[in-house]
Amino acid sequence: MTKDSSNWIVLKFGGTSVSSHENWQNIVSVIKKRKSEGYSVCIVHSALSGISNLLEDVIARAPQGKATELVEQLKEKHRRLASSLGLSADELLQSDFEELEHIVKGIELIGEASYRVQARLLAMGELMATKLGAAYLEQEIGAATWLDARDLIKTISPKNAAERAQVLSAVSASDYEPSVRKTIDKAGSLVVTQGFIGSDDEGKTVTLGRGGSDVSAAYFAAKIGAEHLEIWTDVPGMFSANPHTVPSARLLNHLSYEEAQEIATNGAKVLHPRSIMPARKHNIPINVRCTQKPELPGTVISSDASDNEALVKAISVRDDIILVSMDSLGMWQQVGFLADAFDVFKEYGLSIDLVSTSQSNVTVSLDPGLNDHFEDVRSQFVKDLNEYCKVKVIEAVSAVSLMGRKIRTILHQLGTSFEVFEEHHVYLVSQAANDLNFTFVVESDQVDRLLRQLHEQLILQSGNQQSFGGTWPKLMGQEQTDEQESDAWWKQKREELLSLMDERDSVYVYDRETLQKYAGFIKGINAVDRSLYAMKANANEELLHAVNELDLGFECVSIGEVEKVIELFPDIDRSEILFTPNFAPKEEYEQGLELGVHVTLDNIYPLKQWSAIFEGKQVFLRIDPGHGHGHHKHVKTGGVHSKFGIPRFEIPEVANLIERYDISVKGLHAHIGSGIKDPHSWKDTAIILHDVAEELGGVDILDLGGGFGIQENETQADLDIREVATYLQQFKDAHPKYKLWVEPGRFLVATSGVLLTKITQLKGKGDVRYVGVETGMNSFIRPALYGARHTIVNLDKIDEQLVQTVNIVGPICESGDKLGIDRRFPESEEGDVVLLANAGAYGYVMSSNYNLRPPAAEVVI
Ligand code: LLP
Repeated sequence: MTKDSSNWIVLKFGGTSVSSHENWQNIVSVIKKRKSEGYSVCIVHSALSGISNLLEDVIARAPQGKATELVEQLKEKHRRLASSLGLSADELLQSDFEELEHIVKGIELIGEASYRVQARLLAMGELMATKLGAAYLEQEIGAATWLDARDLIKTISPKNAAERAQVLSAVSASDYEPSVRKTIDKAGSLVVTQGFIGSDDEGKTVTLGRGGSDVSAAYFAAKIGAEHLEIWTDVPGMFSANPHTVPSARLLNHLSYEEAQEIATNGAKVLHPRSIMPARKHNIPINVRCTQKPELPGTVISSDASDNEALVKAISVRDDIILVSMDSLGMWQQVGFLADAFDVFKEYGLSIDLVSTSQSNVTVSLDPGLNDHFEDVRSQFVKDLNEYCKVKVIEAVSAVSLMGRKIRTILHQLGTSFEVFEEHHVYLVSQAANDLNFTFVVESDQVDRLLRQLHEQLILQSGNQQSFGGTWPKLMGQEQTDEQESDAWWKQKREELLSLMDERDSVYVYDRETLQKYAGFIKGINAVDRSLYAMKANANEELLHAVNELDLGFECVSIGEVEKVIELFPDIDRSEILFTPNFAPKEEYEQGLELGVHVTLDNIYPLKQWSAIFEGKQVFLRIDPGHGHGHHKHVKTGGVHSKFGIPRFEIPEVANLIERYDISVKGLHAHIGSGIKDPHSWKDTAIILHDVAEELGGVDILDLGGGFGIQENETQADLDIREVATYLQQFKDAHPKYKLWVEPGRFLVATSGVLLTKITQLKGKGDVRYVGVETGMNSFIRPALYGARHTIVNLDKIDEQLVQTVNIVGPICESGDKLGIDRRFPESEEGDVVLLANAGAYGYVMSSNYNLRPPAAEVVI
């Protein structure tokens, strides 16, 4: 194959992209840019948005003579766009408008529209739109040539293919075609043509099926040997999950063709799955981009092998799955059993998607898109299949697919993620042989939450953040100023920190201003009526004073914490203190009630066994919503495997007891875990507490707990607190009678704290290098306990090049005494100050004197 010297690229613009003046201005600047880079540009575009639907309505209504109004609407839409572009549709599209009317008249006359007529009519949308497009580009750039795609995209008619498929979802070859290349070369360096349409071997108009413009663009790219293909749409690219269900879904920066194929096939609507193969065949990179935001890089799909690590890149859900479970009656060993059973599916035209087999059961899922007729044939089908096995049809289930690469090699790492299935019935598990897909079928009613949870664990907590870009709102500029992302305070106060270390070996430093800033974020959640600081995160007295000045209440987990607050703030209104003990001795409850603070019961035991203490009193009840969430299994505090909370099945019994002892339930409480990055989580909790509150009656407050996650290092995802606010507002609007409380610990104090320590010794053992520091797990146990990965820098040499990979270790006599593993570090020496960031929560409070080494002390600045 010899290609001509000029470099062609294909740019496809979708319906929304070509429907406004603003977008066309962006299109013009993109084209100018590409031309200035030396490319010849082939524009493939769709009909204006809404036009294909209108044309389908015309097809449906013209036989009854009811399409006149629709045709007028069609013309009007083109007139409106044309005039905004400074063009006249009546002039440019006169012959098309006439043709449109003729075809519609023809349908009215005959009373039906054959597939061929349908194709003619549908093609009008693209033909008209591109004529306007070409005229506009001629006006703005000049030398734009309009080409009829039907002269270039010749479709193939496979033998035996149904007529409908041949005419309305036709296919073309994806080989390089010198004749097409020649035509386009002759046309100049800016060509405008249509997506979606082509012609068959008789030269008659056919279409490539809905969404076919992407496919057209890929055919064009292949046929003319384009250098790359750009698919311009109204979204910023392909995402790690559907951003409508998972707001924290992240842009996928780069995908291989195989990954993109898998993701597109599993329901991501951004790119037509059939558009990938033609590009892949010729190794043409595809770049999915957003017309409204041309400055964004979008998603690149190519065979670039650099991105080769095993990784889950996207999670999708397909709803309305039907499972057919077939129980053996000892028949599996019989030759031909499966063939007989599958024959029954074939006979009823049922298409199977997933299959899983065991010794005694075979379960298959039916492809939701392809089995619309299942209900019609269901009873007869089941009866016939029952001849061979015991059949059960399972509905209201959804398929959750994890997609990425080399999934098999990371299944063991997914272990903790699979804990989310502890609380769910999994009906079927299937792993694609190509190792790009791992699918579970679970009950539909839980699937959105499950999806968000898996997304958080596999994508947001993933160590491969460079594969992922921003979230949708961030990319689309709905978040203009991101204060949460501003530069770390400790970089600005570096000199002050270094001088603090003149006289010390190790110290925790807390920055008051940062605490105030984070308190501001929490206070910005309008739906929340009261925020209590979970003082277990950091009980430093000066910080507690700062918290008190910020007018936050306190959540205390022990009577010791309650007493500390009262000692520091003797005048505090006791109702500002919530005491939430767990398996505490009887006396602590008595003391709590005596001190006049709110007391939370998180077990039915005290109510039953110590009822006298609570008789006639007011309490909070901690409910277990049935699921946990959080950065590590140790910090998930919901579901049967956690020791916290009253399970929902005990609520009726609780209701009896509170009535019998005249106890009033002032509030319900739930805290499902810590370090949560899913912004929807608190609304999920609110919904469950609301249901319980309605069951019990008389409840005033719903306390949604803490758990707000933070970024421990720069590659981790952040929790966008404004999204939390949006969801909670939705809840509040629907249920205004309840007061909402939250009790953040980490979120308020983590970012404000750093641990500073000094390098003691250096060591190299083969390839592994160690940087020893003065304090370790005795001061900060989170890396050892949860595998936490906090940012660590050499503060003395902050601007120096990172030249080595090291483990940062403390002096404690345990191999687990590592503050950081595999960190890029500058050349370092004894006495350098090392800083561990985001250490203000669960740092000093969890420290110990292990090895009789006192932990770092604390300073507030
Ligand atoms: N409310 C209750 C009832 C809690 O048990 C906790 C934390 C909180 C609120 C505050 O959660 P936060 O907003 O800080 O996530 N040591 C672990 C965290 C343990 C959290 C215990 N409970 C860590 O370092 O990650």
